[in-house]
Amino acid sequence: MNDGFHIETLGETRIKSPIKLGTQPGDLLADFTAEDARVVTDTNIKAIQRHMAAGTEPPSLELAGPREHIYFEPSKLRVGIVTCGGLCPGINDVIRALVMTLHHGYGVASIHGFKYGYAGLNPEYEYPVVDLSPASVRDVHGTGGTILGTSRGGQPIEVMIDTLEQLDIRLLFTIGGDGTFRAAHAIHEQLKARGVKTGVVAIPKTIDNDIPMVERTFGFDTAVALASSAIQSAHSEAISAASGIGLVKLMGRHAGFIAANAALANRNVNLVLVPEVPFDLEGDSGLYRYLEKRFSKAKSTVIVVAEGAGQHHLPSEKSTDASGNKKLGDIGTFLKQQIEKTFAYRKNLTLKYIDPSYMIRSAPPTPHDSIFCGYVAQAAAHAGMAGKTGMAVGRAHGAFTHIPLQTLVHKQKRVDPEGQLWLSVLESTGQPFTLTSSNRG
Ligand code: F6P
Repeated sequence: MNDGFHIETLGETRIKSPIKLGTQPGDLLADFTAEDARVVTDTNIKAIQRHMAAGTEPPSLELAGPREHIYFEPSKLRVGIVTCGGLCPGINDVIRALVMTLHHGYGVASIHGFKYGYAGLNPEYEYPVVDLSPASVRDVHGTGGTILGTSRGGQPIEVMIDTLEQLDIRLLFTIGGDGTFRAAHAIHEQLKARGVKTGVVAIPKTIDNDIPMVERTFGFDTAVALASSAIQSAHSEAISAASGIGLVKLMGRHAGFIAANAALANRNVNLVLVPEVPFDLEGDSGLYRYLEKRFSKAKSTVIVVAEGAGQHHLPSEKSTDASGNKKLGDIGTFLKQQIEKTFAYRKNLTLKYIDPSYMIRSAPPTPHDSIFCGYVAQAAAHAGMAGKTGMAVGRAHGAFTHIPLQTLVHKQKRVDPEGQLWLSVLESTGQPFTLTSSNRG
């Protein structure tokens, strides 16, 4: 087994799972997931052949799913759930599915929610710890936001661990992104250092869909659907003017997945700008020249810009947010002003600017996302009950997996400018393959 993706456990799984599943094919019952069930991280045949030739095993991730034997005695277990960072459609669906699986599947009776992110684990804030039960979460699915509240930023690790100890929480589920993972990993390490047998299981939550080794995070389907509808509005505005530009800014701090996918979902887009692909404003290859050329053949243009794109055109921001992210300049407003100024000579030009960012991330999930939220929460609940810790659940190649937190911290997934997604965007929009005279291999 490839040790790089080894999942830590709290100890031996001595308790028979109360979930009544099958153990063999043909008994008309879904089976427990075997402890050695794994999926390869790279499905490329060449990568697999290289390992076979070298006599090594290809890197693989543990498969998620209910285990036949579990670590925790459900009736004695106290569980904590915390939601951190920016909103994302589907958080409440995840909370509900966690509570339902733990309660109905395993018989866990004591589930607690920490309010407003990691601050809820710091007594200094005096936020109440809320009881979560099937009755209290029954109707929360399909709603936006988080019933637990959220905030950015970590809290002193020792303080958070003291809180877990005082409340006798032995299994903590943290729902969040990059910053949340860093804190979850630190909590996990500190628990180990103290010799405390408390599990930490993370559920990836980011509207940007930028978690490595995770092909899709919950809320992303909703984000693309709503972004696509904003693009449709921009298109309607643009084509209704004598000479119109519809400019849409979408979230995506370092990764342009929402922008790229929304442009593929709504083929009216003529130009997509993402953080991963630099662009010039001036010059023969620049954005203004491209727009000039478009004006000569089309009366309308739709531009989609991810918030992290073109930051080199803006004054550099020094400050960071509570999660430690560098604050971004407002590329949407900047482009609006610059395009209007540059093309002021075109008397009939109308530019309509739409920024649906917070409407998107606070929206209720699509049915597709709701389904996904259920899967991911169930996978997390099963992992936690089996005593797995220091890990996140994810999905790769269509399978739900366990990923060591250590491999996720400080890493982000990006749109590959040389990959299929970006090529598809270029083919769909018809935009130049490059909008810069530099950075060409
Ligand atoms: O981190 C996810 C994200 O949605 C980014 O795309 C965006 O920059 C950020 O959150 C904005 O969040 P907030 O306004 O809460 O800082």
